[in-house]
Amino acid sequence: MAMEVRDVAYSYGDRVALDGVSFEIAPGVLTGLLGPNGAGKTTLMRILLGVLTPDRGEVRLHGVAVDSVARQHWGYMPQERGLYPGMQVGDQVVYFGRLHGLSRAEAVARARRLLAELGMAERWDQRTDKLSGGLQQRLQLATALVHEPEVIVLDEPFAGLDPVAVAELSQSLRERARSGCTVLFSSHQLDLVQNLCEDILMVNEGRIVLRGPLVSLRAASTGVQLRLNVHAPDRRWLARFPGATVVSEEADEVRIAIPRGTDPLSVLDGARAAGRVDDFGLDLPSLSQLFLESVGPADAPDASAAAAALEGRPR
Ligand SMILES: Nc1ncnc2c1ncn2[C@@H]1O[C@H](COP(=O)(O)OP(=O)(O)OP(=O)(O)O)[C@@H](O)[C@H]1O
Ligand SMILES: [Mg+2]
Repeated sequence: MAMEVRDVAYSYGDRVALDGVSFEIAPGVLTGLLGPNGAGKTTLMRILLGVLTPDRGEVRLHGVAVDSVARQHWGYMPQERGLYPGMQVGDQVVYFGRLHGLSRAEAVARARRLLAELGMAERWDQRTDKLSGGLQQRLQLATALVHEPEVIVLDEPFAGLDPVAVAELSQSLRERARSGCTVLFSSHQLDLVQNLCEDILMVNEGRIVLRGPLVSLRAASTGVQLRLNVHAPDRRWLARFPGATVVSEEADEVRIAIPRGTDPLSVLDGARAAGRVDDFGLDLPSLSQLFLESVGPADAPDASAAAAALEGRPR
């Protein structure tokens, strides 16, 4: 059953952080929570976990309002990390397992397994404050997951991890989602989210601006381009498709930007009626482009240039 958030609002004093947010997230699906700094992601996660009480609205799971008993089976990694610096690694994970109601033996067994999974088996006896930043991050993850929660909420779990750890955590979140957990995590690493998440939830200034399956959002956005290798005497056939514009042209290869709502296959049919088509392809906008389209400054000179810069690729 889905987690359901209904019309949640929250203000810190007179600063509105969430302004009527509603959505559902399905179990078995990895959902990425995106949005610029200050959008309200951390506030939303704190409300999901009951750290903050919303001014209005509610959070439901399995159709029932969530309370502290239900949250025993949730795992949370806050953005401001909360580890005990003087505690040893193993004790720390066991301690969090005990907090969630595990027996000592069970907590130790799970802590050993999880720390091994996170590449920290040999760190069991080390003091937390002697760990590097990335290792503390992994430890924090272990404390969030030790009780094998059915709902997993992670605030920027990938920040500060090396590429190997990123790959391992990605795999581990995928497996947990596949086994039926509800997994929501925030991230600013859009290329990673694009590869990892089936669904996204994008917030801006306390409101949801985009949500749903990533592939549909990309296909339905502006910025879809069709590449065609068409042997036609001219481009007059394109006039049948209002709003379709030629982006670039090289020999017979033409790249066409398709307006929202135009079926790319109908454009392909139009091209085939005009001449032989040797090759064609569909380019969906990247998540970075979607992000900038949805939350970027309105006067951004060129969203695709900014997206290219964000992805570190030349144009
Ligand atoms: N403790 C607080 N007191 C007052 N205002 C706060 C507090 N925490 C957050 N805010 C404000 O609430 C808004 C939402 O903040 P929040 O931390 O939820 O954003 P975020 O999306 O998590 O951003 P980031 O990507 O930087 O982590 C911001 O305007 C922020 O300044
Ligand atoms: Mg945050």
